[in-house]
Amino acid sequence: MTALFALPALRCQTIALSGRTLLHDVSFAPRAGEFTALCGPNGAGKTTLIRALAGLLPGTTPNDPRRVAYVAQGARSAWGLTVRQVVELGRIPHGDTAAGPIERAMAAWGLTGLRDARIDRISGGEARRAMLARALATEPVMLLLDEPTADLDPAAAHAAMRLLRALAGQGMAVVAVLHAIDLALEYAQRMLVLQDGRVVADGAPGDCLAAAAAAFGMRAGSDPAPRLLPL
Ligand SMILES: Nc1ncnc2c1ncn2[C@@H]1O[C@H](COP(=O)(O)OP(=O)(O)OP(=O)(O)O)[C@@H](O)[C@H]1O
Ligand SMILES: [Mg+2]
Repeated sequence: MTALFALPALRCQTIALSGRTLLHDVSFAPRAGEFTALCGPNGAGKTTLIRALAGLLPGTTPNDPRRVAYVAQGARSAWGLTVRQVVELGRIPHGDTAAGPIERAMAAWGLTGLRDARIDRISGGEARRAMLARALATEPVMLLLDEPTADLDPAAAHAAMRLLRALAGQGMAVVAVLHAIDLALEYAQRMLVLQDGRVVADGAPGDCLAAAAAAFGMRAGSDPAPRLLPL
C-alpha cells in the first residue's frame, strides 16, 4: 500500500522574482480526477503559477518527481536521442526503464511509428508530443503542462485534449496552460483565469468565460458555441 499522497496546492501564495511580485495571494488546489485549464493573457503569471505548483520556484515546496510530472513551455530536447530514449527519460525518477509505461505513453501520444526517429530530426509538433509522452511515462498522479497544444495541428490538439480528459478520468490531476479557450471550454472540467498575477475566476469553464473575456480585453459570444470574440 502506498501512503496517500497530498496533491501539491497553492495557498495564498505570493511569488516575487527579481524584486517583482508575479503572483499575488494565489490559491489553487488541483483535484484528482480533474482537468483544469489555466488561462489568461501573456504575462499574466500562468507559467509562474505552474512552476510554483511544480515546486520549482524559491519559497515553494519541492515535489516528488515520481508523482508530479511537468512539461515546460516550449520544452524541447536538443540531444540526438531517439523518441523512445526521450520517453524513457520519464522513468529516471523511478530508476527503471519499465517497457510498459514507456510503450503506453508513446502509444497514447501517437508516437509508436516514430520510436526510432531522432528527436532533433522530427517536426515541432512531433517533438512536443515526445516531451508530453516523457511526462506520461513517469505515471504521475499530477501532470503539469505549460501550453501542451502550442505546436500541435488542430486534429492533434483535439486528440491531446481528449487524452488529458481521459487521464483525468482515470484519476490523475491534470493542469494545462491553454491559450485555446475553445479547447478549454470543450474539454476541461475546471478553468482558472489569471490576470496580472491574480486569480480572477476559478470554476466550470463556461462560468469563467466572461472573466476570461475581460482579462483578454475581448467579449464573450455564444453563437454557435461559447467563445471569445474581438471587441
Ligand atoms: N525570473 C523572472 N524575474 C522577473 N520577472 C519575471 C521572471 N519570469 C517571468 N517574469 C515576469 O512575470 C510575468 C509573468 O510571467 P509568466 O511567464 O508567468 O507569464 P505567462 O502568463 O506564462 O505568459 P505567456 O502566456 O506569455 O507564457 C511577466 O510579466 C514576466 O515578464
Ligand atoms: Mg507562459
